[in-house]
Amino acid sequence: MDILGIDIGGSALKGAPVNTKTGKLLAERHRIPTPGVLTPKEMAAAVTKLARHFHWKGPIGIGFPGVVHDNVILTSANLHKDFIGCDAGKLFSKATRLPVSLVNDADAAGIAEVRFGAGKGLRGTILLLTFGTGVGSALFVDGRLYPNSEFGHLPAGKGKDAEHFVSAAARDRKGLSYKKWAHRVSGYLNTLETVLWPNLIIAGGGISADHEKWFKYLKLRTPIVPARFLNEAGIVGAALAVKK
Ligand code: BGC
Repeated sequence: MDILGIDIGGSALKGAPVNTKTGKLLAERHRIPTPGVLTPKEMAAAVTKLARHFHWKGPIGIGFPGVVHDNVILTSANLHKDFIGCDAGKLFSKATRLPVSLVNDADAAGIAEVRFGAGKGLRGTILLLTFGTGVGSALFVDGRLYPNSEFGHLPAGKGKDAEHFVSAAARDRKGLSYKKWAHRVSGYLNTLETVLWPNLIIAGGGISADHEKWFKYLKLRTPIVPARFLNEAGIVGAALAVKK
């Protein structure tokens, strides 16, 4: 089945039609930059623009950077606060006149990696983390997702969440070298190892493409690998997550 997968991020939304049997994009992905913080209504217009770009007439799956229960958004740490409590499934379906369903963006990336990427065919506990504007997490046991895990929001001192210190955005904000930033990430991952004992950690987000520059500084007991899909995981997984 072909589904339009869309990944809503802090600075843009990206999408492409996906063949859910193979996990392959059926067209080049299209990116719409979102300067400023879009309200839900403005985001609905941007989603509609993306669907029109592909002349799309089928179902749409969207990854959103927040907790999602039954297409209702419950948290929005880095996007507009009006998303909190918003039935985005309803809003976006009305705007596009197409069936739209939503999933957490890191869960989407994890679903793509476990089905077709770095976690394919593996049993045990897999923890995927995305390092971007925030830190997203997806937890799998024997291929089954525990939805809406939010390990980026573990308290990390000074009244702030872990993502404030270990996201890729935090590295940029503080101008940290890969070494300095990786030391922070290492400590954070050690905490997660202590409570979750994963068999594999998959690192995603744009910064995972540079893994050769920072994996070497991590001191972990768990094997860590970069996400296979890199920037496409969120799009592919958002399409895969649509219930048929
Ligand atoms: C959000 C998560 C999201 C992550 C990555 C966090 O701030 O709470 O839901 O997965 O950012 O976008």
